[in-house]
Amino acid sequence: MRKKIVAGNWKMNMTFEEGQTLTSEILNMMKDEHSGDAIAVLNPPFPHIFPVKKLIGEAKGVFIGAQNCSDKEAGAFTGEVSTKILASFGVQYVIIGHSERREYFKESNELLAAKVKLALANGLTPIFCCGESLEIRTAGTHEPNVKFQLTEGLFDLSPEDFSKIVIAYEPIWAIGTGKTASSEEAQDMHAALRRHVASKYGKDIAENTSILYGGSCNPKNAQELFAKPDVDGGLIGGASLKSRDFVDIIKSF
Ligand code: G3H
Repeated sequence: MRKKIVAGNWKMNMTFEEGQTLTSEILNMMKDEHSGDAIAVLNPPFPHIFPVKKLIGEAKGVFIGAQNCSDKEAGAFTGEVSTKILASFGVQYVIIGHSERREYFKESNELLAAKVKLALANGLTPIFCCGESLEIRTAGTHEPNVKFQLTEGLFDLSPEDFSKIVIAYEPIWAIGTGKTASSEEAQDMHAALRRHVASKYGKDIAENTSILYGGSCNPKNAQELFAKPDVDGGLIGGASLKSRDFVDIIKSF
């Protein structure tokens, strides 16, 4: 059975105090209200990781993730954070290949593939992002474009390693724009990605891979998106900064 996951990507937001308040509120609401089997992954900026993890403690169904990691193992790479360091702080997930990293930091599929391998080698679960621009969607070539991102970033992995991957499909035109993909558009792409995984790794692994949707997901549209058979949760940006919205999204399954 694949996992239902709602991951919050705080991006470059939240002071120390704000992050502590947000986390405490999420934990309290989840304890009081959430009885489903969807898990939450909080992905704050690096300095928050240790204190947020401390707050999470033994809370059921709540995990800690990073937004990025280095493609290098260790050494003189000022400003970088390795997967080994993250793992030593108890980090469990790491977002790799977010479109903001691909676009603003020019991260290539090759570099992302190296990050994925290091994350897996250090016991982290990669949340591997893929998605198309508006130009590509308008041209109608979104499906091959996004499949190619998976092929290049992930298809070098052994079946055993691939089975630990979480995929997040995020159409770039839907990120932070308030314009969500329709639930049909999301389902079509998720099903295509699952078929693509099956063509390389077989039906069993494909059926067990969680594929999350990201892009202006909020408490109003989450239920319809999550009801689709190939949508296994969400990667949430803006709405993950509001405890009420984030927990309501988690409760949308
Ligand atoms: O990582 C999260 C996504 O980029 C979605 O962001 O929910 O603000 O559109 P958003």
